[in-house]
Amino acid sequence: MTLVKYDETRHACNICAKMEADANAKAYDEVSGPQIEAGSQFIRELNLSLGDKVLDMGCGTGHLTKYIADIVGPDGQAVGIDPDAERIKIAEEKYKAVGNLQFYVGNSVIGFPNDSEPYYDVHISTNAFHWVPDDDKRIYIQKAHRCLKAGGKLAIWCAAKMLNEEKIEGAHTLTQVQEGYRDMFQEVGLFNNVVVDAPIYPYRYESFEEFKRWFKASARQDLDPDKHADLVKKLVTTEDDGQVTFKVPCIHITACKN
Ligand SMILES: C[S@@+](CC[C@H](N)C(=O)[O-])C[C@H]1O[C@@H](n2cnc3c(N)ncnc32)[C@H](O)[C@@H]1O
Repeated sequence: MTLVKYDETRHACNICAKMEADANAKAYDEVSGPQIEAGSQFIRELNLSLGDKVLDMGCGTGHLTKYIADIVGPDGQAVGIDPDAERIKIAEEKYKAVGNLQFYVGNSVIGFPNDSEPYYDVHISTNAFHWVPDDDKRIYIQKAHRCLKAGGKLAIWCAAKMLNEEKIEGAHTLTQVQEGYRDMFQEVGLFNNVVVDAPIYPYRYESFEEFKRWFKASARQDLDPDKHADLVKKLVTTEDDGQVTFKVPCIHITACKN
């Protein structure tokens, strides 16, 4: 019989990783205001109907899923999915009293509730699709098609690759511009009336410190903004009142299932 020795170092690392995930989930919940504003505007423009069943893929801590639940009303349903268990925990805790709102740990590739039947009227994603690896983006599109009813809509708001973005060793970077997203939908087929726009959206932060906190918590968890301060600083403009503006090259995709 092999005796398994308690590995103190690994145990400590697991605790650190868990604390880091908790801290990022909490920071994300506190400083994602500008991103939430952009996402709410995108959702309003979709003209959701009362009674719609809506999936929110990559829902984070659930703020916009709740926004969707309010629009579709008690006869509708908003389902938030995220692979980050800490974010789902915060979302569930915040909105446990809301009847037409559910959250699940899952993802766009491995799966989510009702992913293999035409169940949802609208499949939404805000600020998440750009982080899905390119091969998985194709699976995302296929799965979104499968879970939508005939006449259903796929709507994605995400970031485009910044043309002058410098690669930071070890950090995750964005891969696609407008044409890349367009080609991807054409290659996969399935959807009709695919429209891919590329608006520039200004995110405003109270200070550079707040921007850095959001930047890390939002997705760049593999990046320490303080180690790359010069590079990160180049992304923003400091306004006269000390606030900073980050002009985000965004991607706005809508597509229909016949
Ligand atoms: C920047 S947050 C956006 C949260 C929220 N939708 C918003 O707009 O505020 C991106 C989220 O995408 C999630 N995510 C990453 N890969 C994913 C995938 N393959 N499927 C679903 N969600 C994913 C992350 O865990 C993260 O919570």
